Amino acid sequence: MQNLIDKTFIKPVESYWIATTPTTNYPALSENIKTDILIVGGGITGLTNAYLLKKEGFDVVVIDSGRITMSTSSHTTAKITSLHDLKYSSLIKQIGTDGAKKYGEINETAITMIEDVIKENNISCDFSRQPNYVYTREDNYLQKIEDEVKNAEALGLPATFETSLELPYSVKGAVCFHNQAQFHPRKYLLELANAFVRNGGHIFENTTAIDIHEDRECKTSTRNGFSILSAKVIIASHFPFYDGGGFFSARMYAERSYSLAVKANIKISGGMYISYEDPTRSIRTQPLEEDDQLLIIGGEHHKTGKDNDEKEHYKNLIKFAEDNFKALEIPYRWSAQDYTAMNEIPFIGHITANKLNIFLAAAYQKWGMTTSAVSAMIIKDILAKGKSEAEEIFKPSRFTPVDSAKNFIKENLDVVESLIAGKLDPLPEDISLEPGEGRALMYDGKKAGAYKDMEGNIFIVDTTCKHLGCEVRWNSAEKSWDCPCHASRYSIDGTVLEGPALKPLDRLF
Ligand code: FES
Repeated sequence: MQNLIDKTFIKPVESYWIATTPTTNYPALSENIKTDILIVGGGITGLTNAYLLKKEGFDVVVIDSGRITMSTSSHTTAKITSLHDLKYSSLIKQIGTDGAKKYGEINETAITMIEDVIKENNISCDFSRQPNYVYTREDNYLQKIEDEVKNAEALGLPATFETSLELPYSVKGAVCFHNQAQFHPRKYLLELANAFVRNGGHIFENTTAIDIHEDRECKTSTRNGFSILSAKVIIASHFPFYDGGGFFSARMYAERSYSLAVKANIKISGGMYISYEDPTRSIRTQPLEEDDQLLIIGGEHHKTGKDNDEKEHYKNLIKFAEDNFKALEIPYRWSAQDYTAMNEIPFIGHITANKLNIFLAAAYQKWGMTTSAVSAMIIKDILAKGKSEAEEIFKPSRFTPVDSAKNFIKENLDVVESLIAGKLDPLPEDISLEPGEGRALMYDGKKAGAYKDMEGNIFIVDTTCKHLGCEVRWNSAEKSWDCPCHASRYSIDGTVLEGPALKPLDRLF
């Protein structure tokens, strides 16, 4: 009899959020146009910004390089919360009590804002208020958990210390934030896009921005040869496709993490949970019809392109689901890529101190459902009122080498090491591949990456990343070529799946 791991791997990788919603069909840009505000990226950040700015009366256009909401926004566990691991203790040290308080307040307001948008537009998206827990099963992290509760309470956040959670294993202690929320992100976003268009907004899919020329207005050129003239541009493309001199390649790093949608024998009535210690385990429920449920189980984060066997991460999660929840079936599994700023505070605001017409919203450190709403509120206030109370905390030009130095040096040494190591790795000489296998090899005297599909077709690409020249590596779980330096990802034929790279890998065969 097949075991659960083998049964799961027969099915392709597919996000539950995408599989249970319709596809979109917005047109591609087919002429030069002009607008007040151009938003590049049609994920949760782009669409939330677009919705709020349209309501303020701006003329707003959203463009997406593929179909809207198909990327990170639909590869998430979809928790809406102001509890971001044990963030408040470190925020107090880094930006002081007032800064940490503002961070907490704006994240709490973001939850209410999303709930208000859902009510205003009558959106059916499985939204429910839930408690959110960060727990530890180890004695040595208990003090950190207790400190976080005290700090969060002192900042006015809805925190309590708990020891009894509705999980099928015991924990030593947990921070609980009450009245947080969860939803089906793509049901929400497709309706948000509809509301934006009903209000007079415009969406263009399959329209890739490749550069911005800033003069008195911004002229954004697209790959299909057209341009968009706008007073302001908001870059909501996950990794900024345009750097503007902000050096974001060196100031943020990417991690992949994995999720399963699980049918299990052991059910829980609700709550959202994440372990503090590694390996991270994230758990929430997703309601199904007739009182049934899926468990959304996530974790296993690692630096993008830094692992030899991504399938192991799915296997570890499946084993966790079997051992703890008596998993019966795993109908869906997916992975996501998230960026983190070196000082672990997202970049939201003017992209640099002297480019006041170009905004960036990025580096959400896996808390994108809530932080996207935070970005929309901050940018809307700057554009509509000239100022946001929270802008100083998040501004992308805040670069302070001292507070970020440790991570900055570590992450950039990793990039240098990947550049050098990638060029010197010995490679196998033979080109024989099993169907479904991909790996690096020598082809025609050059370093290359080869993949054989199930029909026996071979794809060979030059493994030099088109961003800054690191060597991409094979990701066996997602069947993609991933860059360990700044996390560009390419399909088997070299097409860009995720930036910062803008051009495909060279196809050698
Ligand atoms: Fe930067 Fe590859 S070198 S993403």
